[in-house]
Amino acid sequence: MKSKNEQRRDFLKTSVMLAGGAMLSNIPLVGAYAAGDDVIKVALIGCGGRGTGAAFDALASGANIRFVAMADAFKDRLDESYTKLKERHADKVDIPEDHKFIGFDAYLKAMPLADVVILATPPGFRPIHFEEAVKQGKQIFMEKPVATDIPGVRKVLAAAQEAKRKKLNVVVGLQRRYQSSYREALKRIQEGAIGDIVSGQVYWNSGGVWVRPRKPEQTEMEYQMRNWYYFNWLCGDHIVEQHVHNIDVANWIKDAYPVSIQGTGSRAWRTGKDYGEIYDNHAVELTYADGAVIYSQCRHFEGTSNRVDESFQGSKGRVYLGAGSNKATLWDHKGGVLYDHPGKGNVNPYQQEHIEFYDAVSKGEYKFDNAEYGAKSTMTGIIGRLATYSGQVIKWEDALASNVDLHPERYAWDADPKILPGTDGLYPVAVPGQTKVL
Ligand SMILES: NC(=O)c1ccc[n+]([C@@H]2O[C@H](COP(=O)([O-])OP(=O)(O)OC[C@H]3O[C@@H](n4cnc5c(N)ncnc54)[C@H](O)[C@@H]3O)[C@@H](O)[C@H]2O)c1
Repeated sequence: MKSKNEQRRDFLKTSVMLAGGAMLSNIPLVGAYAAGDDVIKVALIGCGGRGTGAAFDALASGANIRFVAMADAFKDRLDESYTKLKERHADKVDIPEDHKFIGFDAYLKAMPLADVVILATPPGFRPIHFEEAVKQGKQIFMEKPVATDIPGVRKVLAAAQEAKRKKLNVVVGLQRRYQSSYREALKRIQEGAIGDIVSGQVYWNSGGVWVRPRKPEQTEMEYQMRNWYYFNWLCGDHIVEQHVHNIDVANWIKDAYPVSIQGTGSRAWRTGKDYGEIYDNHAVELTYADGAVIYSQCRHFEGTSNRVDESFQGSKGRVYLGAGSNKATLWDHKGGVLYDHPGKGNVNPYQQEHIEFYDAVSKGEYKFDNAEYGAKSTMTGIIGRLATYSGQVIKWEDALASNVDLHPERYAWDADPKILPGTDGLYPVAVPGQTKVL
């Protein structure tokens, strides 16, 4: 019987061989400075807040890993991340300057050096980064959402199939799926504790996010890249970027995806030049094939009540789920408690997803294929946006055929994004009833 290290080496080797010999023959698969053959080599692609957080989670997973490469569009973001990681994990994060890559093609240079890649750029780049990582036979942790437009979703779905064929573990950072309160509740619901789910309500109501003021020396591309949250080609709007977490819970609990979506949304609070083109509120109905309707609401309004949670009603009872509070309670229709999660003692789900991912990679096991549900829940959020922007009922099948690609012709600092500000500095914003989305 082979040792664990031998099994792991075989596993990583097989993944690489399946990735295609010709393309990979020039790729240095073993970093010259790697500490030993049983070390899992990791590359961080997108070194911002979450990328750095995911790197810390990886380092705390207990697995024998080393960070061997980093890639970011901007040098200042990479340097900041590296300093933080190095400060606490000098032994596991010691990357020479020539393995720190900057620019739009940085990912292409970092990936070949690693066994595992963490993809944590703004979601607009996820389809091309995921496709490349699968092509190169990497084990993949990627943040949600996984695309911002439908062609991007299709790219991820195709690469997800290829990842399965190559037996590449893919974990997507929809961490409620790794949170024990959710898992305990979902197990009971799947066993029939509250019957068939007929309706639900999912929310992400909170204040807004950061703004990075325009600087005179910036090209339009740099400005949008720094302020990625406010541009759909990079972010997808907050119904995709943030609310995907709650939408994914709806799809998970239904074990299905909506057949159509309709809704309404606007910009009420964030109307100025600093806020690009996205809306600040969306309210949509997700209708499933069995007739169930789940209501979804998300808004970024300062000074209003916050709510980030999910409730569902079934034919025999109901459930309340809250990620922040760790609450998961199931009742029957008379108010009798069927299950109440203790709410304490859970491993942080951001940590848990990395523990499970690196455990599988270390043991050479193929366990995770999160890309398909990640892509379909991302697509649910995108259809929500198409519904609120157009004011039309959007069918899943019609959306899936869409060729509306939001991305620029080329990725370069002097290239123009497709969306540009007017002479007043304001960006065009969708108007329901006028804007065409398919
Ligand atoms: N799971 C969660 O709860 C959670 C929480 C926060 C963020 N996220 C997700 O993580 C991703 C990153 O968000 P963030 O908050 O870290 O944003 P951020 O702006 O802090 O970081 C993004 C980083 O990616 C870099 N980048 C941009 N384009 C790049 C490219 N083409 N190649 C390489 N680097 C590039 C940026 O310069 C920046 O350093 C998003 O998809 C976001 O939705 C998930």
